[in-house]
Amino acid sequence: MKPLFSNVALFLLSLTQAQAAVRRSIPSQPTVGTFHRRTYFYAGGEFAPQSPSVISHGQVYVEHLVPEKVTQPLPLLMVHGMGMTATNFLNTPDGRVGWADHFMSKGWEVYLIDQPSRGRSPWSESTDGDVVLLDTETVSAHFTAPQDFDLWPQAALHTQWPGNGTRGDPVFDEFFKSMVQYLNSTSQSEVELQAAATDLLNKTGPVVLLTHSQGGPMGWVLADANPANVHAILAIEPGGPPFVDAVLDTAPDNVWGVTNISISYSPPVASPSDLQPTVVFTDPSVSFTCFQQGTNPPRKLANLVDIPVLMVTSQASYHAVYDNCTAAYLQQAGVSVDHVHLEDVGITGNGHMMFMELNNIEIAEKVLEPWLAKTIH
Ligand SMILES: *[C@@H]1O[C@H](CO)[C@@H](O)[C@H](O)[C@H]1NC(C)=O
Ligand SMILES: *[C@@H]1O[C@H](CO)[C@@H](O)[C@H](O)[C@H]1NC(C)=O
Ligand SMILES: *[C@@H]1O[C@H](CO)[C@@H](O)[C@H](O)[C@H]1NC(C)=O
Ligand SMILES: *[C@@H]1O[C@H](CO)[C@@H](O)[C@H](O)[C@H]1NC(C)=O
Ligand SMILES: *[C@@H]1O[C@H](CO)[C@@H](O)[C@H](O)[C@H]1NC(C)=O
Repeated sequence: MKPLFSNVALFLLSLTQAQAAVRRSIPSQPTVGTFHRRTYFYAGGEFAPQSPSVISHGQVYVEHLVPEKVTQPLPLLMVHGMGMTATNFLNTPDGRVGWADHFMSKGWEVYLIDQPSRGRSPWSESTDGDVVLLDTETVSAHFTAPQDFDLWPQAALHTQWPGNGTRGDPVFDEFFKSMVQYLNSTSQSEVELQAAATDLLNKTGPVVLLTHSQGGPMGWVLADANPANVHAILAIEPGGPPFVDAVLDTAPDNVWGVTNISISYSPPVASPSDLQPTVVFTDPSVSFTCFQQGTNPPRKLANLVDIPVLMVTSQASYHAVYDNCTAAYLQQAGVSVDHVHLEDVGITGNGHMMFMELNNIEIAEKVLEPWLAKTIH
């Protein structure tokens, strides 16, 4: 018995060592999390011809996370930005808890998506069009290490990214590897998201949207098509500025003001030129020009006027250059926007990827949750 027992013990011991070795080789392991049930499904999509039969395209991957105790009246639907997927809101690249787990710990049911034509949402070149992929230098310069590149004045204030934010740093490399190709056409991205996520909202009923960056315009077009199912929007540095390109963008991709596809104005507009974009101010230090509507009175964004919006801008992001212009544009169009600059509430040093930076939980607790508590009843 004894030798057998020791053999078993030895076997168990080596198994434990093997498991520990495997665990050590996984770079990102959240130290804590929220007990929940996870399911996934797909929303939207349609069949398109492909010899010898058809394919399905345009559908959106949806991950549904339900904490043990749901105490909030509505679910949160999180929409990531350019080159990203739903992983943005899971654990951070250095293994801390992300916003999905955090909000679940506060009783929120969470839906995450991979935008159509990327990540786990299928892409077909013939039906969806060309894709592009961000490179490490663009990502470091704009998102994770702007302080080393000095492309806009506030960049020097960036301190909150975990690690040095450039290639070779393990956290940066982990983050960069999570990025995927995305449709080169902003218009096609918005069309596909709007269609697929409308089907999603038909299934979920009313939600609070949380959008980031390129996901921002997605939120406006989605809410425009489904105003009854979007109760509020948390717009984290939403894609902008109105009408023109600035800092990161290389081509104008908000020709309808804050979206690149048609959105409902009142009185209606036949073409974007009816909005009569007019210069409000220019900032020569970053060659940025702020445009607003030139008509008097300005047209209203007809389906967004009853949806409260919290816009959040960090101190050191390129969005610090122009988000006040985007907020002013929405307000001019009748949208109720509370715009918080993080440094004004004592939260300093953040960049564009604030939900995975060192103080991501502080931002949720000090800024997002108090606003949600007074806005969602
Ligand atoms: C992406 O679109 C731009 C025009 O907006 C074009 O110049 C560029 O070649 C396109 N890239 C790819 C990979 O299709
Ligand atoms: C960032 O850290 C990595 C790994 O230590 C190093 O290879 C790289 O040179 C660092 N980059 C900067 C800009 O300090
Ligand atoms: C934005 O919309 C305009 C007008 O439809 C179009 O010409 C342009 O290619 C779109 N830009 C992107 C990046 O999709
Ligand atoms: C969503 O529901 C509305 C109202 O029932 C319906 O008109 C629309 O076709 C549905 N859209 C999708 C994409 O399921
Ligand atoms: C936005 O910020 C810029 C630079 O700080 C400032 O010059 C401008 O007056 C602001 N505009 C609005 C509409 O708040």
